[in-house]
Amino acid sequence: MAAEGAAGLVATPGVPLCVFARRLVTCDEARASASSPLGVLEDAALVVGEGRVVELGARAEVEGTLRSRYPAAQRLDATDVVVTPGLCDAHTHAAWMGSRGREYALRMAGAGYEAIAAAGGGIAATMRAVREASREQIAASLRARLRRMASLGVTAVEVKSGYGLDPPSERKLLEAIADVAGASELPAVVPTYLGLHAVPPEARADRPAYVRAATEALDGLAADGLCRYVDAYIDRNAFTTAEAEPLFRRARALGLGVRAHVGQFADVGGAELAAAVGAASVDHVEQLGERGTAALGAAGVRAVLLPVASFTLAQSPPPVALLRAAGVPLVVASDANPGTAPTESLPLALALAVRSYGLSVAEALGGVTREAARSLGLPGGVLAPGTPADFVVWDLPHEDDLVAPWGLARVRLVVRAGRVLHAAPAS
Ligand code: NIG
Ligand code: FE
Repeated sequence: MAAEGAAGLVATPGVPLCVFARRLVTCDEARASASSPLGVLEDAALVVGEGRVVELGARAEVEGTLRSRYPAAQRLDATDVVVTPGLCDAHTHAAWMGSRGREYALRMAGAGYEAIAAAGGGIAATMRAVREASREQIAASLRARLRRMASLGVTAVEVKSGYGLDPPSERKLLEAIADVAGASELPAVVPTYLGLHAVPPEARADRPAYVRAATEALDGLAADGLCRYVDAYIDRNAFTTAEAEPLFRRARALGLGVRAHVGQFADVGGAELAAAVGAASVDHVEQLGERGTAALGAAGVRAVLLPVASFTLAQSPPPVALLRAAGVPLVVASDANPGTAPTESLPLALALAVRSYGLSVAEALGGVTREAARSLGLPGGVLAPGTPADFVVWDLPHEDDLVAPWGLARVRLVVRAGRVLHAAPAS
């Protein structure tokens, strides 16, 4: 398959495209079985038209009728490789500026993450760089980051604010995210107002006033359509459930969804609060206890696992067996941020979810596609008639190959809504 040729093919408007694949991983529950939890079709065909999946089925069948039913259809030969839905990164702090390289080096030499934060580094260091940057500079940096994410197979990304830390700077971040969000040549972007991430130095004297202002800022951001979700960092040395609750309640009243950083360092009841407000997800959950897990299961809240962050911080895994037993759907995300997850690679998170959390390949792959998209209320993550034509043609023969080698861009073609986001140079 010549990649440039393929790019031309898929980009032709109004012309259906038929992809012939060695393995087509649909992630469609309607096709799932005990032996194939991801609903894999072997020797399969995927027909795409007007940005959507038109049909999929056995190659011989589709090929036999292709000429009569789609006379102009163009063909893409992927009969030696696996095709999956586009990957969806459901937890990122991708709108950040500056450098934390020095701090990282100090940490790797023994300085603690929480100690560095207490000394004015960490999130506050990125805050200073964000406050100094213009909206345009932030948008340009985010655009470049999203382009690199697309080159790794990612077609949708949740992007949080949370590094401005005062209402005007948080608005600037969300406006920069909005500037990038409409671009069809980039992954789809879902913006989240991370209204309670850290108390900035200038607000430490009056913490309640800070929390109140961050909460009150939501109305204006929501009115301007700048966020679809609201997040808060609920942990020891972060925010309490009592501080986060008014923000979450306001979000729900405004018709927004809730995601929450919960149990990264300690279980302080964030999962129970998330369940009570009907949150879409709780994220991190390394320190989640039995009560919190049960609450998530009962309320249908997804757990977003962030194995890069716990690897960076040398933490033990979340209680995966408990989460499974409680029926909590598992999402896997990168947490892309300069402090705890110095990566932009969702494939790296996928690999670590298997290596360090013990997820099966099917669980991990489902967690970066279908479950990730559902946690964001997006229609993608599944290949079925009518879903968006978001897919990846990998340069690998089988879905098991996606989780090793780690973090590499083994993709031939990344397509969002029928349009090529990335094509690897022909080898
Ligand atoms: O998801 N937990 C809090 N926030 C980020 C870290 C942000 C930073 O260190 O810049 C996280 O791990
Ligand atoms: Fe995070």
